[in-house]
Amino acid sequence: MTTFPIEKIRADFPILQEKIRNKPLVYLDNAASCQKPQQVIDSIVHLYSHEYANVHRGVHALSVKATDRYEGAREKVKDFINAQSTKEIVFVRGATEAINLIAQTFGKTNIKAGDEILITAMEHHSNIVPWQMLCKETGAILKVAPINLQGELVYAELEKLITDKTKLIAVVHMSNALGTINPVKKIIAAAKARNIAVLLDGAQAIPHMPVDVQALGCDFYVFSGHKLYAPSGIGVMYGKQALLEAMPPYQGGGDMIRKVTFAETEYNVLPYKFEAGTPSIADVVGLGAAIDYLNVIGMDNVAAYEAELLAYATEKAKQIKGLRLIGEAQEKGAILSFVLDKIHPHDIGTMLDSLGIAIRAGHHCAMPVMDFFEVPATARASFAMYNTKDEIDVLINGIEDLIKIFG
Ligand code: ALA
Repeated sequence: MTTFPIEKIRADFPILQEKIRNKPLVYLDNAASCQKPQQVIDSIVHLYSHEYANVHRGVHALSVKATDRYEGAREKVKDFINAQSTKEIVFVRGATEAINLIAQTFGKTNIKAGDEILITAMEHHSNIVPWQMLCKETGAILKVAPINLQGELVYAELEKLITDKTKLIAVVHMSNALGTINPVKKIIAAAKARNIAVLLDGAQAIPHMPVDVQALGCDFYVFSGHKLYAPSGIGVMYGKQALLEAMPPYQGGGDMIRKVTFAETEYNVLPYKFEAGTPSIADVVGLGAAIDYLNVIGMDNVAAYEAELLAYATEKAKQIKGLRLIGEAQEKGAILSFVLDKIHPHDIGTMLDSLGIAIRAGHHCAMPVMDFFEVPATARASFAMYNTKDEIDVLINGIEDLIKIFG
């Protein structure tokens, strides 16, 4: 902890100096979206100020420069998750669009009536609804592996649900509602032994731990930039090259083609086949800057620092009478979901907001998780690498105060 450059990191995030309701901002809603360092903001301002034009289209100097920046960011993403090739890195709007893309292309090509898609009971809606839509269209069946009261996947049950009909296992790497980190290596090994494709929803995992898609061996890995200190509206679909080659395009339009006549269209090579239309150029450049920023700190260091934050917060939270943690998995990322006796999570959120503390209260786009724990919603404090133990103290004192007043 002592070597983690927390003061320097905090100074890089201008919004952390803001006052909210006349109090210093304590931003603990990072699982919803995290804040951006000056370096990311500057990269976007610089692009628009000096280097902006459309990409892949112009012979003029600015277009060449913008294309270099755009493709340079793709290279950075490739290295960040250790993909084999930039052909495997497709820019999309976010994890949600990535999963929809996979459902509509890989899914429609490979999943037929009677086939099965296996997910878990802790999925975000974005890893449930696209599969329900696909099942409706194709007659495939969606199966759900259960979780236990700690919020952990019951792995043995997942294994039992794998059949000859299973065509895809789509699992969240780290749960946004519970913080649970799933045993994805074990799941992938079981799937590979049966030649089943695996999609990992990495939207929450990616800002908290090193991710190596080759070491994992997953077929697809998806994530959003805005949870990785990058702009909103940009995300990544990683897919193994052979799978992507075999998949039809998602959307048609400019850039995804090689040749168009009224009779027929020849599609572009990877990854452009999946990037129709002018992309979010500046957001991609911002994502590249966020990755540069994280590489200096090191994802191992981020993971170690956040593990200390989570342990500290968990210990303090457990001492509060009337607080029930929702999600106590052994393997857990920096998320603290909880409910309080007699105080609705929305009231917790509103009252903490009056102290300058930003948390999320709600179902976290994971309604089945709320149903499982028989709560309407939870209050969720989610940590990032710029949070501190002092901020956790402010949160804990805030909760204790509101219990005193309203509990
Ligand atoms: N999925 C995001 C969250 O967990 C928005 O808050």
